[in-house]
Amino acid sequence: MTRYSRITGTGSYLPPRRVTNADLATELAARGVETSDEWIVERTGIRARHFAAADVVSSDLALQASQNALQAAGLQATDIDLIIVATSTPDMVFPSTACILQNKLGANGCAAFDVQAVCSGFVYALTVADAMIKAGAANKALVVGSEVFSRILDFSDRTTCVLFGDGAGAVVLEASATPGILASDLHADGKHVDILCVPGNVSGGDVLGTAFLKMDGQAVFKLAVGVLEQAARATLAKAELTEANIDWLIPHQANIRIMQSTAKRLKLSMDKVVVTVDQHGNTSAASIPLALDAAVRGGQVKKGDTLMLEGVGGGFTWGAVLLKL
Ligand code: UT7
Repeated sequence: MTRYSRITGTGSYLPPRRVTNADLATELAARGVETSDEWIVERTGIRARHFAAADVVSSDLALQASQNALQAAGLQATDIDLIIVATSTPDMVFPSTACILQNKLGANGCAAFDVQAVCSGFVYALTVADAMIKAGAANKALVVGSEVFSRILDFSDRTTCVLFGDGAGAVVLEASATPGILASDLHADGKHVDILCVPGNVSGGDVLGTAFLKMDGQAVFKLAVGVLEQAARATLAKAELTEANIDWLIPHQANIRIMQSTAKRLKLSMDKVVVTVDQHGNTSAASIPLALDAAVRGGQVKKGDTLMLEGVGGGFTWGAVLLKL
């Protein structure tokens, strides 16, 4: 019997502090940094984002999202035999945020590790979990994207600090006799390291370089639009399906203009695109599972729907996962 993997539960969590563009513009003005709700909405589609309290770390957000996903799947934490956390804002240099999450969940003993692919992290993590389940290395996986990007934002740099937010999303992925995950397609091109990075390194008790996010927004924008179309088409080809089979496109939530452009290239109406960037901003590896859970709980996305998940980000990394919910 062919072994597949299937999502059986979704969950998400946003820290309670919601910061609108107007709130942020006021806070930045006090630092002499000028921005406006009009600019942010027009260039990105973002209206608000959530920021975690200073003592809250990625594993705290991941814990809430994971518990919601486990509840939706009707499972206990102890049923899980694999935890993968996609994050670029880990609690510590090591151990992995997945190990810290595992202990908070009380799922001690199962395999647990982090995946680092920045905003593509969730599609990478889901692909790895799918492969492990298909290979018989796991039966019930928790796949999480969790970020506290507010920690790496330079609030004197208006070209980046208005774009990102904090949050977590999670799915339970279980072995199944029916698919499930239909196909995936992952890529990276390390020659673009410099266009989106946090060029810091811990050494001798200090941070060498900087621990703030740096981005060449226009370079990222141009690359993102092209590779998202390629990844979607490659994934459809692997599954022997076409754009017409996609019920919902759930792209990385970075900029509404990137999503509109991807939808247009795939000849999909924006009615078929799940959009949460307006309320969450860019939550990096958390953005896709956050959007998925919002769409499931909001009744947009239903069991049996065919979903195209797509991520793109630092590395440069990109990829897509096509699945039947
Ligand atoms: O998650 C990983 C993926 N990341 C992304 O996908 C991000 C991709 N890039 C983008 O989304 C866009 O490039 C941005 C939203 C970052 C920028 O939008 P843009 O349309 O490319 O704007 P721009 O960089 O060309 O800047 C236009 C103007 C500049 O002023 P001048 O030179 O025309 O006078 C900027 O200084 O907007 C100015 N500007 C701002 N003004 C008000 C830049 N940031 C701000 C701001 N508020 N926050």
